[in-house]
Amino acid sequence: MTHRSEIRFLLNGRTVSLPQVPATQTLLDFLRLDRRLTGTKEGCAEGDCGACTVLVGRLHEGALRYEAVNACIRFVASLDGCHVVTVEHLTGPDGALHPVQRAMVEHHGAQCGFCTPGIVMSLYALWMQTPQPSEAQVETALQGNLCRCTGYAPIIRAAVAVSEYGTPEADHLMQERGRVAAELLAFKDGRRVETGPDGDRAILPADLDDFADAYAAHPQATVIAGSTDVGLWVTKFLRPISPAIFIAHLDALKAVEVTEGAITLGAGVSYSEVQPLIAEHLPHLQEYWNRIAGWQVRNMGTVGGNIANGSPIGDTPPVLIALGAEVTLRHGQTRRTLPLEAFFIDYGKQDRRPGEFVESIRVPLPSPATRCAAYKISKRRDEDISAVAAGISVSVEGGVIQSARIALGGMAATPKRAGKAEAALLGQPWSEASFAAAARAMAEDFAPLSDWRASAGYRMRVAQNLLRRFFLEQDGQPVRLSA
Ligand code: FAD
Ligand code: FES
Ligand code: FES
Repeated sequence: MTHRSEIRFLLNGRTVSLPQVPATQTLLDFLRLDRRLTGTKEGCAEGDCGACTVLVGRLHEGALRYEAVNACIRFVASLDGCHVVTVEHLTGPDGALHPVQRAMVEHHGAQCGFCTPGIVMSLYALWMQTPQPSEAQVETALQGNLCRCTGYAPIIRAAVAVSEYGTPEADHLMQERGRVAAELLAFKDGRRVETGPDGDRAILPADLDDFADAYAAHPQATVIAGSTDVGLWVTKFLRPISPAIFIAHLDALKAVEVTEGAITLGAGVSYSEVQPLIAEHLPHLQEYWNRIAGWQVRNMGTVGGNIANGSPIGDTPPVLIALGAEVTLRHGQTRRTLPLEAFFIDYGKQDRRPGEFVESIRVPLPSPATRCAAYKISKRRDEDISAVAAGISVSVEGGVIQSARIALGGMAATPKRAGKAEAALLGQPWSEASFAAAARAMAEDFAPLSDWRASAGYRMRVAQNLLRRFFLEQDGQPVRLSA
């Protein structure tokens, strides 16, 4: 089958067909510079402020799902087969304000107005999913939207009141779902897309096997999943990424399998897509998961990307290593599986050869005898990178510790297990003294660095205290943190 070179998607009410799309063209630049849709603002160009928030609708397992995303770090090439909705599309045919906009006006939710279109779009996405949200749900939806002048109280009041101004059932996006879904389905022709000028090429494989072939043939290519890391390489570091292989559209990489003992996640599953599984099977991770980035980034960013980037401060590796996760890598038709901790070799070095990609992650579910916790320490509560992240799983039988897996991020050049602390716990009674001894042993596990996020001394102190906190919380005792 011949390749196609056009990227085709819906933009508000119109079909867009772009013949040659550079891999590095962002949706924000396309909207503002090419289409003069200037309601979508540029604040930071790195996914932090939310001024550029738009909705992207895509078909998944036959259902049309709209998500708030950051247009500044979303590449146009990744939008093939999607529906992009900007703030301009909210106004009804008669020019009336949308219920979200009316609520923002009535509750004085804007001052300078720069952040307002982005906030309106996040609240629009929330209202479609949860028409009558709690304040906590509003806060979670707005984690990725910064407002410098209004203050959040009026915005939250507006968000809670939106349903007084209209119901999602009457919204035109909801009413047109059937038609939009049919149009998006018609875009899917099962062909590989190769587009963009020389030096800025984008490849959208037709399916997973085609991705494996394309990457094996172009091992120097940049794989792009959610683009929440790669987007910044382009907007902040002006790094060339050609040829770029986009994979976010591959349904096979979004597969999730839940068996009695484990969850297997396709590498392309986003943080938001994992959320319901966390709530059901790994409730100890719920709060932690909500503290990864903000809502828009969680809608785009993938677990596979968080592992593949090899960062020592990625939030998923410590908790997945503590649970005993394994990662399956694939090169062409050849697969191999290794414990996740073995994937991280050194700073910037992973056990992944050219042309090999992360295909899936298998996460064993803890047994009833296993006590688990996850902790994220960062300067800001929301939308911040960890200074220290910890995943702890300890199984206890008859009051004696049978196994311990303790993994930390931010403490070494890679996410790493605390082998000495684990050994200090094995065979010991479940007691405060055992955990105090393990915390002392942890001093031999790591020699953390000082940087602008935290000093080495702070990192070590906090990591040791997290171990103590784990015992106290699991034991039902009040937490007193000290060394
Ligand atoms: P991409 O940007 O698409 O890719 C990242 C890297 O992985 C690239 O090298 C890419 O080539 C490679 N890659 C992606 N998928 C695969 C695959 N299947 N096989 C092989 N290679 C692959 N991270 C955190 O851990 N915690 C946070 O709190 C956090 N906050 C953030 C806040 C903001 C505002 C932003 C912009 C980012 C934040 N991040 C955070 C970083 C980022 O969101 C995560 O690392 C994310 O999981 C990356 O996934 P992605 O799909 O977007 O990866
Ligand atoms: Fe700030 Fe996109 S411009 S998140
Ligand atoms: Fe000015 Fe929010 S209204 S930044």
